[in-house]
Amino acid sequence: MTDDDLLAEAKKAMTGAYAPYSRFRVGAALVTRDGQLFTGANVENASYGLTLCAERVAVVKGVTAGAVGFDRIAVVSSSGEETFPCGACRQVLHEFGTKAVIVAADEGRPVTHLMTALLPHAFGPDSL
Ligand code: THU
Repeated sequence: MTDDDLLAEAKKAMTGAYAPYSRFRVGAALVTRDGQLFTGANVENASYGLTLCAERVAVVKGVTAGAVGFDRIAVVSSSGEETFPCGACRQVLHEFGTKAVIVAADEGRPVTHLMTALLPHAFGPDSL
């Protein structure tokens, strides 16, 4: 799966967002090291703090399907701007070994950001 394919899957997943409060729709497409794909979209709640981010929806779908060892995740949003995972999602992505985040830059061009740059000095399974 190319990074362009992964961004296209994230865009498709974004159509499943439930974001009536922020109207900010997010889609994520996560690929495992053995090539399995899991997607997610944000799911908001009238009790705002219960909102689920797209990235964590994709992670939870993958982990509960038995996938371990994620390679990279593509993230897109309805803003049309580059959209990066929030801090909480970075931590959860780190837990499962995610190596990189792909975002859509100018005209949808995929740009790779390494997790080591997005979450330096991360606390994770090896820290315990
Ligand atoms: N959101 C995500 O889905 N992922 C992120 O990494 C950042 C924020 C969602 C949560 C909320 O539904 C909306 O974007 C605005 O914060």
